[in-house]
Parts: sequence; C-alpha cells; structure tokens
Amino acid sequence: MCGIVGYIGHREAYPIIIKGLQRLEYRGYDSAGIALYDGESIKLSKTKGKVADLKEKLENEISTTGTLGIGHTRWATHGVPNDVNSHPHYSNSGDLVIIHNGIIENYDSLKKELINRGYTFKSDTDTEVLINLIEDVKKNENIKLGKAVQIALNQVVGAYAIAVFDKNKPNEIVVAKLGSPLAIGIGDDEYFIASDASPFIEYTKNAIYLEDEEMAILRRGKDIKIRKIKNDALVDPYVQELQLNLEQIEKGGYDHFMLKEIYEQPSAILDTFRGRLLSNEAIIKMAGIEDNMKRFLAADRIIIVACGTSWHAGLVAEYIFEDLARIPVEVEYASEFRYRNPVITEKDIVIAISQSGETADTLAAIKLAKSKGAFVFGVCNVVGSSIARESNAGAYTHAGPEIGVASTKAFTTQITVLTLMALRLARAKGTMSSSEFRHHLIELETIPGKVEEALQSDAYVKTVADIYKDATNFLYLGRGFNFPVALEGALKLKEISYIHAEGYPAAEMKHGPIALIDEQMPIVVIATKKGHYEKVVSNIQEIKSRKGKIIGIVTKGDVSVKELADHVIEVPETLESLTPLLTTIPLQLLSYHIAVMLDKNVDQPRNLAKSVTVE
Ligand code: M6R
Repeated sequence: MCGIVGYIGHREAYPIIIKGLQRLEYRGYDSAGIALYDGESIKLSKTKGKVADLKEKLENEISTTGTLGIGHTRWATHGVPNDVNSHPHYSNSGDLVIIHNGIIENYDSLKKELINRGYTFKSDTDTEVLINLIEDVKKNENIKLGKAVQIALNQVVGAYAIAVFDKNKPNEIVVAKLGSPLAIGIGDDEYFIASDASPFIEYTKNAIYLEDEEMAILRRGKDIKIRKIKNDALVDPYVQELQLNLEQIEKGGYDHFMLKEIYEQPSAILDTFRGRLLSNEAIIKMAGIEDNMKRFLAADRIIIVACGTSWHAGLVAEYIFEDLARIPVEVEYASEFRYRNPVITEKDIVIAISQSGETADTLAAIKLAKSKGAFVFGVCNVVGSSIARESNAGAYTHAGPEIGVASTKAFTTQITVLTLMALRLARAKGTMSSSEFRHHLIELETIPGKVEEALQSDAYVKTVADIYKDATNFLYLGRGFNFPVALEGALKLKEISYIHAEGYPAAEMKHGPIALIDEQMPIVVIATKKGHYEKVVSNIQEIKSRKGKIIGIVTKGDVSVKELADHVIEVPETLESLTPLLTTIPLQLLSYHIAVMLDKNVDQPRNLAKSVTVE
C-alpha cells in the first residue's frame, strides 16, 4: 500500500506534496515523510504518525522551499511504523533519496550482499536496500541515475512504484512501476507523480498511468521519456484526460468521507445504470457483455474472485446469477484461489470484483486465470486501474472516488453492475420471460429512490447505536440474498469500531453461534418479507427464547418481527434479489454511528488501508 507523491517544475513543491499526501492517506497512515531539494541540498523530514503530524514537525524542522520534492505516507510492511522506517530513505552516500510503495521480496539476500560490500542500514525496510542497490550499481558502473535504477530493478523480485532523485542532478526524478500504481500528471514544464491522480487534479487533467515494468525520467522542461525496464525499449506516452474533479474528493460538509459515501449511494447507483438500463426499450446495454456474448453463453460456469467487501458483493452475485441466469457460480477469496492450484478451463469466465482495481491478491488471481485460458471480466470502480487493464473485458461501477477505508457505495454499485449483467445474460439465455425481465428493470430503476428512503432511518439507527455501542460482540444473521449482507454488516462494524462481530446464515445459528446468545448479545437479523421470511421469524423466536437483543431489518409495514424484536429498522419493499441494495444501508449507518460514538477514526481505521497492493 502506501501513497507516494512527487513534483518537479517551477512551483513550490512542498504545498503540492503535503496536500497530495493528505489526499492519499487512505492508502496508509502510520508514518509519513518528505524530501525537498532547495537548490543546494536535500531537506528531509519524516515521522511516525499521520500527515498532520509530519506537517507540524516538518514546518519547525526544515525549510520548505524548493521546486523538486517527493513525499510518502506509509502502511508498514517491513519494519514497524517508526521515524526511522518512514520514507523517504537516503542511500549511504546521502546523494540519492527514494520513496517506495510495494514490497521487495528478495530484499534479504540483496541486503546481505550489500552489507558484504560495506553498506550499512539504519532502517528495517526493504526500501533502504533498494536505494543502496541503485547507488551501488551507479557507482560501480559509473552511469546515470536512470540507467542505475533500471539495472537495479532488473535484480529485484517484488512490487514497486518508486520515485528517486539525486542531489547532484536536481533536474530530474526517476520513477518506475511494477505491481503498484503510479500516475504522472503532465503540466506546463512540470510533472506531478502520485499513486492516483487526486494529488494533482487541480493542476492538470492530463495524466499518464505507467504500465507494469515501465520507468520514466521526468526532467524539468523536457519531454517525458518512458522505457521498458527489461529491454530498454522506448514506449510512446499515452496521455489520458482525467474525468475526476476536486469536489468528488472532498468531504462536502459531511463529518467523514464514509458518511458522505453512504449518502451518495442513490446517485452512485443511478450513475451505475445510466446508459445501461433502458427500461422504455426494455433492454440492458453493456458493451463488455455484448462484445463477448458468445463466450458468456458458452461458459460452463462463472468463477468470481475478490477480497473483503468485494467478495461479499460476489456472494450476492452468486445468488443473482444462479437465480436469474441459471449459470453456476463459484465465489473465491482471491488470496486462496491463487494458491490452491484451482481447476480452470478455457470455458470458464472469471469475474474479478475490486473497488480500487489494485488489490494484489485479486490481480494475481486474474493473471493465473488468464494463464489457464479463462476469460476475465473486471468489475472495478477506479478507471484505468491495474485490474481493469489486465481484464479481457469489464464494466466500471462509476461510483466516483471512494475515500473512506470502509467500502460502502462500492458494495452497492458492484451489486448493481452484477445485477445488470445477470439480467442481460438471463435475457440472452431465455431463462427469464420478457415480462419478468421488464418487471426487474422497472424495479431496479426505483432503487435509488428506495435507498434514499432507507437513509431516512438514520436518526433512529443512531439511537440504536447509542444503546449497543458498548457491546463487545455482535451477531449478524441473514438468509439467501441477505446472507452476504450479514457478512458485510459484521465486517463494517469490525473494521471501524473494533467490536467483534460475526455474520452467519440465519439457519446456521443453531449449529454453533446460538451458544453465544445471552441477554448481553445484540443480534442484527435481516428479515425482509420475501427472503424466507417465516423461517427467519422462527430464528428470531429462537433468539428471543435465549434473551438475545434483536435488531430487525424489516420490510416497511412488517408486523411479525415488530412483535418479537427489541428494535426494527424498516426498508422499502422490493424484489427479493434487489433487497441487498436496501438492507445494507442501515447496517452501514449502524457501524458508522457506533464508531463515531466510540471516538474511532472512521475514515482511517487502525491497521487498514484502502488499497491493499501487497499479498
Ligand atoms: O479495492 P478492493 O475492492 O479490491 O478491496 C478489497 C478489500 O480490501 C476491501 O473491500 C476491504 O475489505 C474494505 N476495507 C472493506 O470495507
């Protein structure tokens, strides 16, 4: 993970870098640092803690002038979060300085060789090994920085997005990428570097996303030069126009990004089906499916690979694809899939779901699937991300930037895309009548309004949160389409409030978790009208007999659950397959309010990062 930012040009680098690091803090926030070249020497400051801590320390410590600089916000992999392990790192001579996002897997053997050659190390990081390897190559071969970086990287196993400069050549920054993202903003005689485009969006809309195994030399006032790291071949720069705007990456009056993103769901879902769902014509148009329809229709099965919340969206999709399109689906944790020698054939379709499009495990899973001949379809939010580029075809969720570490609108928009796909395939396969199909389209179109209605439970959810905020365990139960929503509700609570929570299929409760139930235990039960309602009501009765506290998520107008539960939160009625889009809303709000009441860092929970680009 980690966020990197850099600048070379005619402006003061410091304000660009510090603001950029704040925007990238979702990628890691256990330590931060900056190195600036002030015209004479490198000024470097770094610290354990957040970018705000760095800002406070640095402005008392070093001069912040200079038109070249690099900065880093860290999510620790090698070495605990402390001042010394923070980036940037110097080479032994103090001439070179580096920031790095990724992992150098063979750092230990490289370090031993460098120690044998007299190098010393201050930190426990793999990054300090890399900068000294670059220095060693540069000195031994008496070559320029760019060439030294290239030769060193050819000895490295692992993942990286790096930016390096040399205090003796303060007119250039060398950047390179493998596995971790790296965007270059192109201004007038100036370059911006960042893990995503958000740090430079107010300066330029023109960006180049480096591909894996590419490096670039950014010289003040000169055209960019991009080369392949392996064979030195020159690459034609592909400059993209960014669609992002500043408003999308700011809090817009909300206390937290998470809350803003929860409230953005009606419009995000609308954006997801805009241009794809044409209910008047009774059609769904998705280029990624139309262009590959033969492949989809010939597929023996669909394998979904994803992690975390995206994996939960995959589980919902399993129910939807099997129910509507009658295609067998397997849902896999990407991290398990890639390491268990899975049986994959050329007739398989692999759907990779990822908000960031950068999750290392998911990326590795799709590379494996492609190597076995499977067709890979990416469902990503971040446009131009690694997974989007690596997939054979795909569909973006168009949710807009999600900055809170806890995924919210990513989940509901992923389910929306997957529902559109299932409906389109159901129609093509003839597993749905045209009236059923039309009915689904019309109902899907009402979902943004119904999500809006579900959000109106916010004040009541807050009072429920207040009652249970001190509980140490929560159970979440759901059946059918809403079983994955129970998992997602539990994950949301765990990750931002640090309260232990488990999600279970409601009927599984009697096979174990029921032993946990006593009068202290809050149990959130999703009991909407069409989802095996009577069965879930029986499960609620079983909880009631054991004095558990019941928070029911019910369909508007419900009577039976109201009689049994301690609290009920209503959501509007919809088709069973669409209920996850509504039942998830109160669960997001519940976790949000509990975390705020417990004074936790909602947007940047401990130990987590938004984009997990390491294994
Ligand atoms: O970017 P991705 O969707 O691939 O991320 C996958 C998980 O890391 C992510 O969903 C994670 O579980 C979130 N923190 C959940 O809120």
